[in-house]
Amino acid sequence: MTTMLTEDQIPQAAAILQDGGLVVMPTETVYGLAAHALHQLAVTRVFQAKERPANDPLIVHVPPFQEGEDLSTLQARGLVADELPIAQAKVIQRLMDAFWPGPLTLIVPRGSHVPDAVTSGLDTVAIRMPAHPLAQQLLQASGLPLVAPSANRFGRISPTTAQAALEELDGRVDAIVDGGPCAVGVESTVVQITEEGVVRLLRPGGTPQQRLEDVLQTPVLPGRPVHLGAHISPGLTESHYAPRKPLVLVSHEPQHWFDTRWEDLRARLEGAESIAWVGWGDTASAQNQLHRHLHMRVHCFSLGPAGDLEQGAHKLFATLRAADASDAVMIIAQLPAERTGLGAALVDRLTRASADTTPLA
Ligand code: TXA
Ligand code: MG
Repeated sequence: MTTMLTEDQIPQAAAILQDGGLVVMPTETVYGLAAHALHQLAVTRVFQAKERPANDPLIVHVPPFQEGEDLSTLQARGLVADELPIAQAKVIQRLMDAFWPGPLTLIVPRGSHVPDAVTSGLDTVAIRMPAHPLAQQLLQASGLPLVAPSANRFGRISPTTAQAALEELDGRVDAIVDGGPCAVGVESTVVQITEEGVVRLLRPGGTPQQRLEDVLQTPVLPGRPVHLGAHISPGLTESHYAPRKPLVLVSHEPQHWFDTRWEDLRARLEGAESIAWVGWGDTASAQNQLHRHLHMRVHCFSLGPAGDLEQGAHKLFATLRAADASDAVMIIAQLPAERTGLGAALVDRLTRASADTTPLA
């Protein structure tokens, strides 16, 4: 049984976590499936509930620093390795000072208390300090570091509302704390900090690369694949964030594809009665064109005004979910024009969401 909890029931949620149970919590990025990070069985339950392969490591979430706390506090708690090269420790601390709490996850050398199950046996651990007040209250009330992968079944669309999390994990978790829709809407940016203090981007997300570079005053480099047995780069190579329906991507400039892709679309949609369009700005023109060329119903969903990446990120997963729930046989989604800032995260999520569908010819 999965119980819906409200914000005044944080103590109840904290007690479930202390007992090794599973609680979905809101964060500023997406809803997370939280469990006691140092509790072997609880961590195992997270992988089971999500049907997530054991070689895809989890992020450990920590409460806000109190007066005088910093990186050394996480080292003292056994979350981060004790002895760090000075260059590495400096960069880690600088990123914490500038971006925590907030949508930035740091991959750092792992402390001795972190179970193998959390890191999939890697010698690094992912750490994040969420900005959402309810996540912070839950971390504080439980007194525990909490693993919290996105609260979806593996490979599926991340939930940005409590209702979406319930659809994904009903009966598989003990409780869901409802904190309303997530503000950011895409997951945290994940960076790794090397021994030399070099920062590598493993996943674009809620914190734009440019803002990291402004603070560091050095370039952030592209991430190197992480090798885990037969699998490469957890979260970097698989199809992810995927709707159940086929999803094809088109350019932000309609004239680039409307003229050329009809034949392929018509062939794929033979016999279909409706499709879904997920695009930017006013959807009327796309609707007209699609209807005229394909002769079927078009369910239109807007990500907000073109160029408003914050609104687009905020709406992306809920919109994909709605399009997936419609009776359309296929979703056509329009990429944003911008490839930097939140645009990088949007392109990344849309590309992965479409990875299992053959692109339009
Ligand atoms: O915004 C977020 O980060 C959300 C909220 C709930 O906090 N959480 C989230 O977790 O997105 P998850 O598990 O869906 O994604 C974590 C990503 C995965 O791609 C995982 O492979 C990667 O972080 N990761 C975790 N530990 C790692 C490590 N030691 N080295 C490299 N990648 C790691
Ligand atoms: Mg995820």
